[in-house]
Amino acid sequence: MEWSERYGLGIARMDETHREFIAFCNELTAAAPEDFLARLDAFIEHTAAHFEQENRWMEAVNFPACHHAEHDRVLDVMNDVRRRVEKGDAFLGRRLLEELPPWFDNHVDTMDAALAFHLKEIGFDTETGALPESKSACGAQGAPFVSGGPAMC
Ligand SMILES: [Fe+2]
Ligand SMILES: [Fe+2]
Repeated sequence: MEWSERYGLGIARMDETHREFIAFCNELTAAAPEDFLARLDAFIEHTAAHFEQENRWMEAVNFPACHHAEHDRVLDVMNDVRRRVEKGDAFLGRRLLEELPPWFDNHVDTMDAALAFHLKEIGFDTETGALPESKSACGAQGAPFVSGGPAMC
């Protein structure tokens, strides 16, 4: 995978994390068989932190289109593959590497793009985790009504 400007969503911390995701994916692709599990562990650790970071932001702004569950699903798949690779199923590890790039493309284009757009719209500061003064009073209470149900975060 290669970083491309089309992945840039205009939130520095998010873009940096996505650059790192691509780097971890590439390192795992290039890993020798004996290093594969260790590289996969590092990739999973980074991905867990990547998803937790976005989950925190979505929770902080009560994001109506929260995609916490999608993050959990993908992390479950990665951990399941990790267990199978440890038992000797190297093929499944390679399959994961075929499936992650198209998943990432689509995820950035849709779910993360929607989140980035929303965070920029409301002026959320991803460095401090703070909403601007003028938005903080109504944000937490208004969003569930916009989404038509309880927030999923
Ligand atoms: Fe992301
Ligand atoms: Fe995401």
